[in-house]
Amino acid sequence: MVKKVAVYILGGSGYGGGELLRLLSQHPCVESIHAMSRKHVGEPFWRVHPNLRSVANGTFEAEPNWATFSQAETLVVFSAMPHFELAQQLPALEKTWAKHGLAERLTLIDLSGDFRLDSAAEYERAYGKPHPYPQALGTFVYGLPEWQKEKIKGAKRIASPGCFATTIQLALLPLAGLKNLGFIAVSAMTGSSGSGATPGETTHHPTRANDFRAYKVLNHQHEAEITRLLDAQGSSGYSLAFVPHSAPLVRGIFATVQLHPPAALGLNAQALKKRYEDFYRDALFMRLVEDTPRVAAVVGSNFCDIAVHEKNGNVVIMAALDNLVKGMSGQAVQNMNIACLTLENNGFLSVGYYPT
Ligand SMILES: NC(=O)c1ccc[n+]([C@@H]2O[C@H](COP(=O)([O-])OP(=O)(O)OC[C@H]3O[C@@H](n4cnc5c(N)ncnc54)[C@H](OP(=O)(O)O)[C@@H]3O)[C@@H](O)[C@H]2O)c1
Repeated sequence: MVKKVAVYILGGSGYGGGELLRLLSQHPCVESIHAMSRKHVGEPFWRVHPNLRSVANGTFEAEPNWATFSQAETLVVFSAMPHFELAQQLPALEKTWAKHGLAERLTLIDLSGDFRLDSAAEYERAYGKPHPYPQALGTFVYGLPEWQKEKIKGAKRIASPGCFATTIQLALLPLAGLKNLGFIAVSAMTGSSGSGATPGETTHHPTRANDFRAYKVLNHQHEAEITRLLDAQGSSGYSLAFVPHSAPLVRGIFATVQLHPPAALGLNAQALKKRYEDFYRDALFMRLVEDTPRVAAVVGSNFCDIAVHEKNGNVVIMAALDNLVKGMSGQAVQNMNIACLTLENNGFLSVGYYPT
């Protein structure tokens, strides 16, 4: 396979940046990887991401050298910076890219929440502050390949979905478009890496290693992504309540979705299973499992495992994935593969490790 992609990672020293470096350094089409970090300028990647010693060679840069970058055939910029940063920096970046003739050439894949929603009002409701660059809202394709792969092909700007949003959307996608699903109860838990590399009160190991609690109850920003997908697919007559939890794990998300759809929809156990099997038949990273998904079975991989159950009209859908892979960097690489290359799986995305 011809190596032809040059990659630049903004925010290379964080957890998402580390996973991008891990996955892209094994990618058969990637010829060069550069990454930026303000705190680790000049340090080799492995000093921050020790698993990458002898694997991803390179040092963190204070700022990108766009002139050198522009020489490769296919150019991809991943932004793995905290929410708000890319939106603030994008107007200046666009000017610089235009100066170097990159504006039409590069593919920008954002891992943050900055461009996942299309309207400034929706964004402000979800994130609690005005969007710094509302003119750019709506210019990014929402990168959930199982939903809209055709739109991702050839896209120059992609907003990779949030980790909770990915898990819950994949649990609900085969039902999206149905009417009168009624009350949809979603309970989902994430490991501590979901909050990034900077230690905080709620992510510090001693305060969460042996604890289990909910947070942002009915008020998590990813809910807007989930309902947007349901609405776009034509769902109506539903009400979704999402309660996120912190689990004593480092990696992984496990979501349980419960609903009692009207009998007229015919979603008995057999029909439900068939619906999910048919829907995900060609989805490379979706696996239907019996009984329950397990976080340990997906960690390190780009898989999302799903189980569906029905009894007495009560429907339960459970989904598990690795928040740093299918919930973040793996999905971003999957998006790059779909947008810029003719492959969806680079061969490394699906290999996890067990036990964790
Ligand atoms: N963690 C997850 O499970 C997950 C899943 C899906 C999406 N996301 C989203 O993906 C993004 C990255 O998450 P993460 O967990 O990798 O975060 P993180 O570990 O905190 O890393 C953030 C990175 O951004 C850099 N950075 C911070 N402020 C910056 C600024 N003003 N300008 C330039 N660089 C800056 C940091 O490096 P320096 O300080 O060294 O410059 C670091 O490399 C976030 O938007 C997050 O919400 C996270």
